[in-house]
Amino acid sequence: MADRIPLIAGNWKMHLDHLQAIAVVQKLAWTLQDARHSYKADGAEVAVFPPFTDLRSVQTLIAGDRLELRFGAQDLSEHDAGAYTGEVSGAFLKALECRYVLVGHSERRQYHGESDAVCAAKVAAALRHGLVPVLCVGETAEDLEAHGAAAVPVAQLRAVLETLSAGSSGAAPELVVAYEPVWAIGSGQAATSEQAQAVCAALRIAIREMLGDEAADATRILYGGSVKSGNIAGFLREADIDGALVGGASLDPVEFAAIARFQKHVGV
Ligand code: PGA
Repeated sequence: MADRIPLIAGNWKMHLDHLQAIAVVQKLAWTLQDARHSYKADGAEVAVFPPFTDLRSVQTLIAGDRLELRFGAQDLSEHDAGAYTGEVSGAFLKALECRYVLVGHSERRQYHGESDAVCAAKVAAALRHGLVPVLCVGETAEDLEAHGAAAVPVAQLRAVLETLSAGSSGAAPELVVAYEPVWAIGSGQAATSEQAQAVCAALRIAIREMLGDEAADATRILYGGSVKSGNIAGFLREADIDGALVGGASLDPVEFAAIARFQKHVGV
């Protein structure tokens, strides 16, 4: 796989308060460092995505102890500031040293009615504030039945890239794409690595067509949906899969560290 640095991202969803977050991040860092070769030597980036209320604590811990971990938020407002009660600006996330922000997770699309247009506006907001958006795309079981696996995720990605390429000139922005089949999320039934690879390859083709070769070769595409230490190796062996977005299994720091450490066994 080109020169893309693998990214293992842990989406905590609405789990763990700020005190629990400190304990989990400490344990994660220790577990990773305990490995004979550090995960850093394996070249993988490890990032956690805690709830908003945890971010300050996580930032303080990671900065204070100089932990080799990244972190990001699970969502952001499409607006920069103003009368938007309950929303969180990308500017505030940047001030907290977030590197990443999830956009368009299927739970946001499903429970908060986030359309492709809203996702595009949020991706633009993230980029305005110097955050790297992790754009989540994926098909439901019904989409899979009706259109096959790739059609909906590719259409979701194209909808966002269209607005990006319309609004920009010059170098393509840094973006991470997470392919998460909705039927695989939290179900214990992951896609096969072949299924995931086929869709990730189609996503990369869409990036190539819309943003050019450089962006297609540089953009990391993750697989998400019931990833655990027992199945991560198969995904990471695939040419177009550059890491994983891990939900449930990221809440257990020992299991999440095992997923992150798998990098070194796969010769990426
Ligand atoms: P899961 O969730 O690993 O629990 O399936 C993945 C996600 O929703 O990002």
